[in-house]
Amino acid sequence: MIKKILRWTGLVVISLLALLLLFYAVVYFKTESRANKVYEVTIQQLSIPTDSATYALGAHIAAVRGCNDCHANGGKAFFDEHNPIATLYAANLTTGKGGINYTDKDWIRALRHGISKEGKPLWFMPVQHTSGSLSNKDLGALICYLKQLPPVDKATPQKKINPLGRLLTFLGKFPMFPAEMIDHSASFPDDVKPAATVAYGKYLAVGCQGCHGETFKGGDGNAPGEPHIPDLTTTGHVGKWDSAQFITTLHTGKTPEGKMLTEYMPWRTMGVAHNTEELQAIYLYLHQIK
Ligand code: HEC
Ligand code: HEC
Repeated sequence: MIKKILRWTGLVVISLLALLLLFYAVVYFKTESRANKVYEVTIQQLSIPTDSATYALGAHIAAVRGCNDCHANGGKAFFDEHNPIATLYAANLTTGKGGINYTDKDWIRALRHGISKEGKPLWFMPVQHTSGSLSNKDLGALICYLKQLPPVDKATPQKKINPLGRLLTFLGKFPMFPAEMIDHSASFPDDVKPAATVAYGKYLAVGCQGCHGETFKGGDGNAPGEPHIPDLTTTGHVGKWDSAQFITTLHTGKTPEGKMLTEYMPWRTMGVAHNTEELQAIYLYLHQIK
C-alpha cells in the first residue's frame, strides 16, 4: 500500500517537473526568437546639422528626455550582474573603448525604431518614451549632439536575460523589447515649435510616461522598495497646484506639501533641465487630464 502511494506520488512529481520543464522550454525559445528577430525597416532620410545652435538644442533634448539619466559617463547599469531579471547596461554612446561606432542611419534606426545596428531589438531602451516621436528637427539636433560626445573608455558587461526576465517578458510583465511596440512606418512632423500650450506639453510629457504611466495616473513603484509613483493629473496632488508650484517642484525637488522628492524622481537631471516654458506646457497638458 505505502509502496503504491509512493510510486504514485513519484509519478505525479515527475510529471509536474516535466511539465514545468516543457513550459520553461517554450518560454526560453519564444523569448530567444523575439530577441534575435531581425527587423527590416525603412530608415528615414535626415540630414544631421553640425552648427553650434543645433548642438546646444541637442544637448538640451538629451537632458530633458532623460538620455543622460541612463547613458551619462559611458552608461550605467540598468540591471547589474546581481539582478535576477537580467544583466543589462545602458550603452556607452561615445566612440571610446566599449562604445559604439554609428553612422547617421544607425542613429536613426536606434532612436526611431529601437533596433540595433544588427537589426535586432535593443533591450529595454525606452524609445517609445524618449526619442521615438521627436520631430525631425529635434531628432537631428539630438544626433548632432550625440555624435560629438567626448570619447569615454568604458566596456560594459555582456547583456544577458535570466530565467525570471524571460518569464516576465513572456507574460508581458516587462517591456524588454520596445521595438515590438513601435509603429515602424510612422512619419513625424518636421518641427514642433516650443510654446506654453497643451499641444507642446503633450509632446514633452511622453518622457514622463515611462514612470508615471501611459495615462499619467501613477501606480506601484518601478521595483520592490521604490516609492509609489504619483498621479500627475487633476485627480492627484498636482491637480491642486498652480503652475508656479509645479515649476518649483520640478526645479527644486520640493513639493507644495513640503515633501522632498527622492532620487527615484529624476528632478535633479530631467526636472532641472526643463525651462519654465516647457514646464508650463507640461502643466497645462496634465491639468486637462480628468
Ligand atoms: C531607462 C534607461 C534609458 C534611457 C532613459 C535611455 N536609454 Fe538608451 N539604452 C538603454 C539600455 C538599457 C540600452 C542597451 C540596449 C541593449 O544593449 O540591447 C540602451 C541602448 C541605446 C542605444 C543603442 C546603442 C548600441 O549599443 O547600439 C542608443 C543609440 C541609445 N540607447 C540612445 C539613447 C538616447 C539618445 C536616449 C534619450 C533620448 C536614451 N538612449 C534613453 C537605456 C536607456
Ligand atoms: C524614472 C522615473 C520617473 C520619470 C521619468 C519621471 N518621474 Fe516624476 N516621479 C517619479 C517618482 C518615483 C516619484 C515619487 C518620488 C518620491 O515619492 O520620492 C515622482 C514624483 C513626481 C512629482 C511629485 C508628485 C506629487 O504628487 O508629489 C511630480 C510633480 C513629478 N514626478 C513630475 C514628473 C514629470 C513632469 C516628469 C516628466 C518630465 C516626470 N515626473 C518623470 C518617477 C519618475
